[in-house]
Amino acid sequence: MKNLDLSKGGANHQKPLGKDDVMTTAQGMPVSDNQNWLTAGPRGPQLLEDQVAREKIFHFDHERIPERVVHARGYGVHGHFELTEAIPELSHARIFNEAGKKTPTFTRFSTVAGNKGSMDLARDVRGFATKFYTDEGNWDLVGNNIPVFFIQDAIKFPDLIHAAKPAPDRAFPQAQTAHDNFWDFISLTPESMHMVMWIMSDRAIPRSFRFMEGFGVHTFRLINAEGKSHFVKFHWKPRQGLQSVVWNEALKINGAEPDFHRRDMWNAIDSGDYPQWDLGIQVFDDDFAERFEFDVLDATKIIPEEQVPVRIIGTLTLDNNVDNFFAETEQVAFCTQNIVPGIDQSDDPLLQGRNFSYLDTQLKRLGGPNFTHIPINAPKCPVRNFQQDGHMAMTNPKGRANYEPNSWGEGTGEDRGPRACPMNGFTSFPAPVEGSKVRVRSETFADHYSQARQFYVSQTAIEQGHMADALTFELSKVGRMDIRKRMIGHLRHIDDGLAQAVCDGIGLDALPDKVPVARVPIADLPP
Ligand code: HEM
Repeated sequence: MKNLDLSKGGANHQKPLGKDDVMTTAQGMPVSDNQNWLTAGPRGPQLLEDQVAREKIFHFDHERIPERVVHARGYGVHGHFELTEAIPELSHARIFNEAGKKTPTFTRFSTVAGNKGSMDLARDVRGFATKFYTDEGNWDLVGNNIPVFFIQDAIKFPDLIHAAKPAPDRAFPQAQTAHDNFWDFISLTPESMHMVMWIMSDRAIPRSFRFMEGFGVHTFRLINAEGKSHFVKFHWKPRQGLQSVVWNEALKINGAEPDFHRRDMWNAIDSGDYPQWDLGIQVFDDDFAERFEFDVLDATKIIPEEQVPVRIIGTLTLDNNVDNFFAETEQVAFCTQNIVPGIDQSDDPLLQGRNFSYLDTQLKRLGGPNFTHIPINAPKCPVRNFQQDGHMAMTNPKGRANYEPNSWGEGTGEDRGPRACPMNGFTSFPAPVEGSKVRVRSETFADHYSQARQFYVSQTAIEQGHMADALTFELSKVGRMDIRKRMIGHLRHIDDGLAQAVCDGIGLDALPDKVPVARVPIADLPP
């Protein structure tokens, strides 16, 4: 055996230059060779003893975490929210109480149905979720770029998403909407028709994240210092304006540059062209909610801006790209239940289901109950409680007291820990609640077409043409003729011209019958 010069290290070894930090293992031990596994002689077997190689491979083997069950593909950006108009008469949340106040934020934009590696310009809803790191804890506004949703009740969500994702036997098509399962489910779920009009519109193929609106969708509550409640819907209005691509462009862009939207956002921020959105609120009281022709707890309905104007109260500026995509964009955990004093929930059955779902999924996706300790999720205000332990606990209670009530404190030399505060702590709005346990909703939940029609007729002729083209494209990909016909049977309730255009587009000889309408008559709303 030839003599080996051990001072040279193995092949391909990059020697540290003067300024380089010395590489270490995760245990902090300096590493001498990052390229060659320890072996018994130059041609001998690898030694298991090599803790450097084993730790490196072990860590690599565990790099993946589950992608989000929906909204898997997303792009996150830091920024801040500046309040321009204080609204103490509506909410005692500190974020809303002093004009000029700045609150740090993290916003994640996403598509819904595609997996983590899917293309940006799929025809799909876009998520628009913002975490406000307020002085009183994190407030998450977890919205979309479309003001309504497919379903009225969270119990339907797993079916909706199963139908939208690739079919379980063949695992295709991965294109978001164009397939039998999706249109089968949709055509059997008439409450989705309003949302379908939006996703068949140009809104579902935005030019970039910077040119989209955002909506909190649900009705929430604002509570003022006197404990008075107003209902509110939240809106994001892009200062860049609203722009979309056309379908032909979307197809080409997806082929040529599947990262089109994330690259656009990165480049805009990197070059100092910071995108901005105004935060608007539609505020209304119980009387309006009583008078309004639909139930304000129905997430498939909007409240027209002509009836309740949007009042602008602040501006979101996105001005900082992430340092690390995984640490921030992937590990961020939004949840509709993250609210602060002065903001409260409503009884929207979709919202209430979401409040359960996000926390539940994050327990698994982020590996345990301590994901609020991850820096991107950690509040930027003090966190004090008696929660302890669990996987990856970073902030356990200090000292002796980890329970309440306790009698440690003054005189004992021990800290007794924090106490809940009736004055400043979060209190739920004491909305009176009464009723039998039932699984039925208000009657107007069953009007599925009036606002769908209202949206369609509000579009320009060119936009209406795009919608007919989109429906024709989508339904032409559906193999089963009965599903195609059932969908057109719904379109006939919305607009016969649209139904006819799609019918001609997909080559049906005659217009299918209207789908029978359940329960309530359809209001004949003027355009
Ligand atoms: C994720 C919006 C309805 C369950 C998301 C995200 C957004 C969003 C923006 C991505 C958050 C991120 O970027 O990390 C909405 C809107 C809805 C809606 C606006 C209706 C108005 C629902 C419903 C459910 C649900 C009804 C379940 C019952 C989930 C889950 C995730 C998610 C499980 C993944 C969360 C995670 O892994 O962190 N949603 N969603 N969503 N949504 Fe929804």
